[in-house]
Amino acid sequence: MTQLDSKRREEVERLRAELDDANYRYHVLDDPTLTDADYDRSLRRLQELEAEYPELVTADSPTQRVGAPPEAGFPEVEHAVPMLSLDNAFDEEELEAFVRRVAERLEASSESLSFCCEPKLDGAAVSLVYAQGRLVSGATRGDGRTGEGITSNLRTLRSVPLRLRGAHPPELLEVRGEVIISHADFEAMNQRARAEGSKLFANPRNAAAGSLRQLDPRITATRPLAFHGYQVARIEPDPGDATHSALMDRLGDLGLPTSGEREVVTGAPGVIGYCRRLGEKRDALGYDIDGVVIKVDDRRLQRELGFVARAPRWAIAFKFPAQEQTTWLNEVEFQVGRTGAITPVARLEPVSVAGVVVSSATLHNADEIARLGVMIGDNVVIRRAGDVIPQVVRVIEKARPADARRILFPERCPVCDSQIERLAGEAVARCSGGLYCPAQRKEALKHFVSRRALDIDGLGEKLIEALVERDWVATPADLFGLRAEALAELPRMGRKSSENLVASLEASKATTLARFIYALGIREVGEATAANLARHFGTLDALMAAGREALEGVEDVGPIVAAHVHTFFCQPHNRDTIDDLIACGLHWREETVIERPRPLVGQAWVLTGTLEGMTRDQGKARLQALGAKVTGSVSKKTAGLVAGEAAGSKLDKALQLGVPVLEESAFLARLAAWEAGDVATDESEEDKA
Ligand code: IVH
Repeated sequence: MTQLDSKRREEVERLRAELDDANYRYHVLDDPTLTDADYDRSLRRLQELEAEYPELVTADSPTQRVGAPPEAGFPEVEHAVPMLSLDNAFDEEELEAFVRRVAERLEASSESLSFCCEPKLDGAAVSLVYAQGRLVSGATRGDGRTGEGITSNLRTLRSVPLRLRGAHPPELLEVRGEVIISHADFEAMNQRARAEGSKLFANPRNAAAGSLRQLDPRITATRPLAFHGYQVARIEPDPGDATHSALMDRLGDLGLPTSGEREVVTGAPGVIGYCRRLGEKRDALGYDIDGVVIKVDDRRLQRELGFVARAPRWAIAFKFPAQEQTTWLNEVEFQVGRTGAITPVARLEPVSVAGVVVSSATLHNADEIARLGVMIGDNVVIRRAGDVIPQVVRVIEKARPADARRILFPERCPVCDSQIERLAGEAVARCSGGLYCPAQRKEALKHFVSRRALDIDGLGEKLIEALVERDWVATPADLFGLRAEALAELPRMGRKSSENLVASLEASKATTLARFIYALGIREVGEATAANLARHFGTLDALMAAGREALEGVEDVGPIVAAHVHTFFCQPHNRDTIDDLIACGLHWREETVIERPRPLVGQAWVLTGTLEGMTRDQGKARLQALGAKVTGSVSKKTAGLVAGEAAGSKLDKALQLGVPVLEESAFLARLAAWEAGDVATDESEEDKA
C-alpha cells in the first residue's frame, strides 16, 4: 500500500466515523453537533473518494444507505423470536389489576416491583438484526411469525446505524422498535403532496408503514422516518443486564435510539402517575403515541412470568383515547387570512377527540375539497394531533345523506366582495382586496399588536374589529392617533381602560428592529426570519435597500422569502405605512444583543425522575436558557444529572460513570446562582458540598 493509499483510507475512515457520530448525536443523544450542511459536505466528500477508489467502498459506509436497486417484491422473513402483541388496559383500575396479577404470580409485594414505562409509539413495528455489529437484516412485523424483508429500505433511515458503536458490539443483536414520523414532518410531507397534487397520507402511522413498503428504496430515503428501539429480542453473548431499562441504555450506547421518555417507577401508584403525566404531555410530544407500554423491569422476573397465548404476562399497554373520530360536517365557511388567503373551514357537529372538543377543521383549499370529495352534510373522519389544526381525513361515503350539498368555492371575497384570484401553480386562492378588505386589515392589525410583534396590551381582537368597522383605523399607524376620550365611547371600554390602552400604545413605540420587521407582516417572514434580517442588516434603511441577492445572503432566507421581502419594500403603500409609523415616534436602538449569562454552553445535562417544584420541561427550558444541551441519556460526557423522585436507571448509570448528580434542592440553588450570573460550574463546588 502506498503512502497516498493509506492517507485516502484514513480520510475515508475519518469521514465515516464523523458521519456515524453525527447520526448518533442527533438521534440518540438528541444533541446535534454537525449542521445539515456540514453533514452533506462530508457525505459528498466521502462519495467522491469512494467513486475514485471503489475498492474502499464497504456495505456499512454511510454512502451505501441507498444503493440497492428496486425490488420486485419483499422476501418472507421468519422471525427467530415471534413479534408478539400486548394486552390492553383501558383505565386505571385495569392498570392496578395488572400490577396485582404480576405481584401475586411472583409472590411479591406490589410496592417492591419496578416497572419500566415507555410511550406506546404509533408507527410501524420493525425488527433489526445485527451480526458482528453490522446490520444484516430488517423486517416488518407481518403476522408476528413471518414478516417482509425490507432491509434495503431500513438502511436508508439515518437513525438506523449500519454498524453498531463501540469496539466490542455483541456478536448477535436483534432489536425491535417502531418507525415513526413526527407531526411536523408529516405536515410538511402532506403539504408538499398537496402542492404537487399527489396522494395524501391519512396519518403518520400509515405514512410510515407505506414508506417502508416502497419497492424502490430511493423513495423510502426521501421520507422523514425515525426508528426508536423498545425491545431486545436476542443478544449474544448476553451482557447480563439485570433490567430492561439497562438494556435500553445499552442500545443507546450501541448507537440505537430509544425513547427519551422512558422512566422506571415502582408499584401501581408509580405506574398510574407515569400514565397521567404522559397523558398530559401527549399533545406536546410532537409525534403520535396511542398509550403507554408498562414492562416489569427485572429481566429475571420477566422470564419467570413468561407468556400467555400471544402476549407477555410481564407487560401491558395502557391505551389513550383515539386521535381520530367521526362526526358530521354541518357547514363550510370561508375565512380570509392576513395575506388574503381564503381558507375553507368545516363546521362540525362537536365531538371529543383525545380529550378536546373539536367543532371545526380546516379543509385547506379547493384542491383538498376535490381530493376528499367531501360534501356538506357528510359523515367525516377527523383527526387531531397535538397542536396541529384538526383536519378532515376522509369521507364515509356510504353514510352520505340524500340531501348532501356540493361545496361551492366563492368567486368573490365573502368579506369585501373583491375578486378572488388564484395564481397558476398555486393551490391557494386569495382575495385581491389587500388592505381595502376589512378582513385582511383586521388580521394585519391583530398581527401588528400581537405579543411577539409590538406587544400592545389591552388591544384585543374584539376591539380591533370595532375600530376597523367604525373606520377609525385602517393602517397600523392610525392606532397611534387614537385618543382616550374617543376610545371610551366604544362598547366595554371605560375611561380607565382607554387611558391604559393609550399608555401602552405609547410604551410600544420603543421597540426593536426585529419586532418591527416581524410586525409588518411580510409573507413568510416569521419571528426567527425577522430576527435574522435585523441582525444581518442592522438598520431598517439597509434592509429596505437590499436587493434579492443580498437578501438571500441572510441565514435561512431562500429565493421565495427574499422575493416576498423585496416585493414588500418596493410597494409605495408599504413604504408610506413605514414612514407614518416612524413619524408617529416608533423607534428602536441599533441591534444590540442583551447578554444573558450562559455558563453551561458546551455542557450536556440529563433530567430524570419527578421534580416537585417544576415540570421536567421547565427544568429543561431553564438549563437550555443557560446554554446547556439537555439530552435523554447519560454518558461519560454528561456534565450533570438532575435526579428527581423515583429516578431509575439513569441515576444508576450516572453514579456508575461518576457523572455529578444534583438532587432537586441543590439543582434549584444552582439554577438560581447561574441565572444571577454566578459562573462557577466546576466540580470544586461539589467537593465542598
Ligand atoms: S413492547 C412483547 N414497547 O405496540 C412485547 N411495543 O401491541 C413487545 N409498540 O407491536 C412490544 N411502542 O409495535 C413495546 N415502547 C413499546 C412500544 C411498542 C409501540 C407497539 C409495537 C407492538 C405493539 C404491541
